[in-house]
Amino acid sequence: MSQLPNRMLPFQAMEILKRARQMEAAGRQICHLELGEPGSPPAPRVIEAVAKALPLAQGYTNAKGMMELRQGLVDYYAAQHGVSVAADDIVATMGSSAGFILAFHAAFAPGARIAITRPGYPAYINTLIGLGFVPVEIPVGPGNGWLLTGAEIEAAYSKAPFEGLLFASPANPTGAAVDRAGLADIVASCKKLGVRLISDEIYHGLDYRGASVSALELTRDAIIINSFSKYYCMTGWRIGWMVMPEELIRRTEILQQNLFISAPTLSQIAATAALGERDYSEERKAGYAANRAVLSAGLAGLGFDIGHASDGAFYAYAGISRFSNDSLAFCEALLEQAGVAATPGVDFDRVDGHNYVRFSYAGTAETMSLALERMAGFLRA
Ligand SMILES: Cc1ncc(COP(=O)(O)O)c(C=O)c1O
Repeated sequence: MSQLPNRMLPFQAMEILKRARQMEAAGRQICHLELGEPGSPPAPRVIEAVAKALPLAQGYTNAKGMMELRQGLVDYYAAQHGVSVAADDIVATMGSSAGFILAFHAAFAPGARIAITRPGYPAYINTLIGLGFVPVEIPVGPGNGWLLTGAEIEAAYSKAPFEGLLFASPANPTGAAVDRAGLADIVASCKKLGVRLISDEIYHGLDYRGASVSALELTRDAIIINSFSKYYCMTGWRIGWMVMPEELIRRTEILQQNLFISAPTLSQIAATAALGERDYSEERKAGYAANRAVLSAGLAGLGFDIGHASDGAFYAYAGISRFSNDSLAFCEALLEQAGVAATPGVDFDRVDGHNYVRFSYAGTAETMSLALERMAGFLRA
């Protein structure tokens, strides 16, 4: 466990994207494996619903969101997770990113220490620091598939206590996904320590070993954050949701009224339609699953260290120690020389990330094959 420097850093995936776009403008063709976003648009019926609503859907909605969307989410929890949630405890947010801001301010006071895993999604640290909270890192490693355990939470807590734990399964950048027993272990440790769990479930639906387990199936004390960005292919619509414990919902509503007023109306309409289009998302997922197999085998064949293929999301977090101990320089060279964009591990892990690169397999099968071919040439050179 380590205390972090009080400093926001650039999101390297976005820096690499910026450079890749400049190269494209100059005529280069780039394989994009840096971005954590699906290559496909949302389901056609989502676009149709928005087109139909466009002339009328111009105003704010209720701060918590349109009732149609929240009712759709109630039905989603009943169907996918077998849990009953009240529409009143759900808030539609501007992506999960806004959900984090609401969650931190609803549950904690600035200065509170919030634990996260290392490696982890870079915005966790940067958002916490930016808002005056104190991130506390709990390292996870490849030895046990990058999974966080209750014992690790308790060991970190005994060194220096924290009030909250923000945790994602499946995780970014590793794709590590806990099973029901693993999540129950985490929930139990948080309960024992009096730590508020924030469960980032944005990659739910993208579990390759079986159904995703929501923390809601195990506890009503956790804050649940989710989003339409990944499974529903709606990153740019900036729409997500949170399910709050009853004692925090009123404060969350007040925060939303003041910070964001409401989530974008058209995006809420789109999201309501997307909930009925899971078959479309399952087809996309089948594509990611095929890419996952090709990319994992291909990277291993090239000498990257990737253990077994990730269990969820659409990322391969690959060790590069055979080639370099500077992931940023490695990614810059890979982009400039081979036209393959990938994200350096330092984005996700300021301590050990120089030995890792994250590849996203959310793109097309053709992109995966071309990227592997180009990397083979790059590594031979
Ligand atoms: C783990 C995780 N949480 C949250 C987000 C933010 O997503 P959004 O704000 O689009 O819902 C991302 C985006 O990549 C992510 O990887």
